[in-house]
Amino acid sequence: MGHAMLALISWLTLQLVSSIQPTEQGPSSTSAPGFLGSLRGHEAGIYALAVSDQLVASGSKDGSILTWNLTGAAMQDASRAMETPLQKLSGHAAGVTALTLRDELLASGAADNSTKLWNVATGELVRQLPHPKTVFGLSISGKQLASACWDGVARIYDLENEVEPMELRGHTGGLYEVSHSPLDPTLLATASADRTVRVWDLKTGRQLWKFMHKDHVTALDWSPVNFTLATGGWDRRFRIWKIHAEEVAKCRGGVCGDLVTWAAGLFFGMDVARSTMPS
Ligand SMILES: *[C@@H]1O[C@H](CO)[C@@H](O)[C@H](O)[C@H]1NC(C)=O
Ligand SMILES: *[C@@H]1O[C@H](CO)[C@@H](O)[C@H](O)[C@H]1NC(C)=O
Ligand SMILES: *[C@@H]1O[C@H](CO)[C@@H](O)[C@H](O)[C@H]1NC(C)=O
Repeated sequence: MGHAMLALISWLTLQLVSSIQPTEQGPSSTSAPGFLGSLRGHEAGIYALAVSDQLVASGSKDGSILTWNLTGAAMQDASRAMETPLQKLSGHAAGVTALTLRDELLASGAADNSTKLWNVATGELVRQLPHPKTVFGLSISGKQLASACWDGVARIYDLENEVEPMELRGHTGGLYEVSHSPLDPTLLATASADRTVRVWDLKTGRQLWKFMHKDHVTALDWSPVNFTLATGGWDRRFRIWKIHAEEVAKCRGGVCGDLVTWAAGLFFGMDVARSTMPS
């Protein structure tokens, strides 16, 4: 989950910069261990961030998206790289709520409910994917884009052909986040305001597992090395769902057993509990 960690660190930096504007000297962020610099350029708060090997994209409350070149060479002159965005992508009429980057493709979701695909090399708007409500989460894997929409439906788009998306229905509340398993991109996880996390089989469009939290689930990420899933939300519980490869195969075959979970209440100490959750 190094990517997520990098995103988090960058997000914190950007948040800080946006929250301290217009004052030049903020809190002592510049003395924090590992601090490289601040990306200055947004005129309103930052809601979304995406990170790839070369680029950072940041999306703002005012609808603008900035991309930044953070490769090693560019970082040699960090002050310059950090003051000057590569591109400014304008087109969203309301706050940007989701971003994801893969190579030259950037996908953005916004409170104007228009999800857009951009070519970050040229700054061109490539395609528009209309949604009935706001998209809060996006995931790209291979030729597929998945969106987490506030209407409770996860949609799977073919990035090469403009065909109707596959729709995953079952959640009874809006979606905050969606993620393809890096290990098997035909497994997709969604996090929802209905207090559940669901894992879907993209080969069939079927729901495999439903995991319960006690409140809105706002964040999730897969392990890059196995089918372990981490989730978190308003119940202040960070949960780890251990799914074994054999269990995935069995569940696809129709037998979805209970899973072992680990829950850590970050606000109430390391109250780690072993429990099984009904599917
Ligand atoms: C980023 O900066 C590096 C080093 O200056 C450069 O080689 C690379 O082409 C830049 N990438 C983009 C996407 O502009
Ligand atoms: C966009 O979606 C939000 C809910 O996410 C809704 O309140 C709003 O009316 C929608 N706006 C448009 C222009 O459809
Ligand atoms: C997945 O990998 C993590 C990290 O190596 C390990 O702690 C965990 O036990 C593994 N999960 C399973 C189900 O094998």
